[in-house]
Amino acid sequence: NCEDKGDFEHFMIKEIFAGPKALRQTLNGRIKDNKIIFSGLNFEIKNINKIFIAGCGTAYHAGLVGRKAIEELTGLQVEIDLASEFAYRRVLWQAGDLLIVISQSGETADTLAALYKAKQAGIPVLAILNVPGSTMARWADAVIYTQAGPEISIASTKVYLTQLMALYLLALYLAQERGTLSEAELNTYIKSITTIDQKVEKALALQPTVKEIAGYYRDTDNAFFLGRGYDYPVAMEGALKLKETSYVHAEAYAAGELKHGSIALLNGDVLVIGLVSQDALAEKTMSNIDEIKSRGAQTIVICKESLQKYCQEYEKVIIIPDTEPWLAPLVTVVPLQLFAYYMAVFRGTEVDNPRHLTKAVTVE
Ligand code: AGP
Repeated sequence: NCEDKGDFEHFMIKEIFAGPKALRQTLNGRIKDNKIIFSGLNFEIKNINKIFIAGCGTAYHAGLVGRKAIEELTGLQVEIDLASEFAYRRVLWQAGDLLIVISQSGETADTLAALYKAKQAGIPVLAILNVPGSTMARWADAVIYTQAGPEISIASTKVYLTQLMALYLLALYLAQERGTLSEAELNTYIKSITTIDQKVEKALALQPTVKEIAGYYRDTDNAFFLGRGYDYPVAMEGALKLKETSYVHAEAYAAGELKHGSIALLNGDVLVIGLVSQDALAEKTMSNIDEIKSRGAQTIVICKESLQKYCQEYEKVIIIPDTEPWLAPLVTVVPLQLFAYYMAVFRGTEVDNPRHLTKAVTVE
């Protein structure tokens, strides 16, 4: 390919650092005079009754965040499925349904199967894609391009950020068109999404800290990622990134769910990474992490600046810039991407081309 790594050792780290710019590109041309413009969305926005989302891997994780944002900002009901499952379950379609598929490549076979299923039922499909002119772009009724530019590393990083941004924009657009937010509220939200790139930039400055922590835990064989609310899908993304780049066994748990069985796995060899960015949930998450610490697991806490008081007793704390809870995933994921990257580097894996993986999975 014609992309080059510039001063970076791998595409993955180059693309992690391209996050803020990619976010600005996603916003490009989509906000004017404090209004969101999506010219290509040619279906009846006001008549949407229910939204379905389907995607795989990282795109699915972005969808989980998108679901929460759409539900919160618009009051619309959203169902989300792994595309590989959605394609083969009975969906009770109704008039006014919309399917959103999310895919970097636009070629993933599982996601295409989900798209075809909706098309066969006469349901409109909106695709959130990165690669222009892909198969999904041709079949979908409307496309929102993430405009992130080419992503070479098999592990998706900058595109994940832009998928979140596209979903946030869409949530705000739906709210704007359906009148579920006041103008003042809309202005505040728009201001937050247009300045969030600066917070991502700040989170990237954590690179030396995260590198050092990864060096310390490089021999870890088991990692648990925990979070509540918006932190939970980010924990899932952090676990996937670590698995695929460094081959470390990693799982994500909703912080409150661990005690219902999986906590039995904990011992001194497990590394637990807790995410604490949700103001209303921080106390509960920390009480779950405290429980884990008392079982002897090693812990890293990724904590929002204003929530520091909850994390004081922890030795390994990564402080991330303050953000509104709904936008926190854009910031929280950054140290997780950096952690996965440095773990891979320290463990000597093929960072940009992990074993058994391809950029677009074109078989079901
Ligand atoms: C991401 O790091 C993975 N390589 C993978 O989960 C990917 O997100 C998934 O295969 C979906 O690909 P797509 O976005 O091109 O459809």
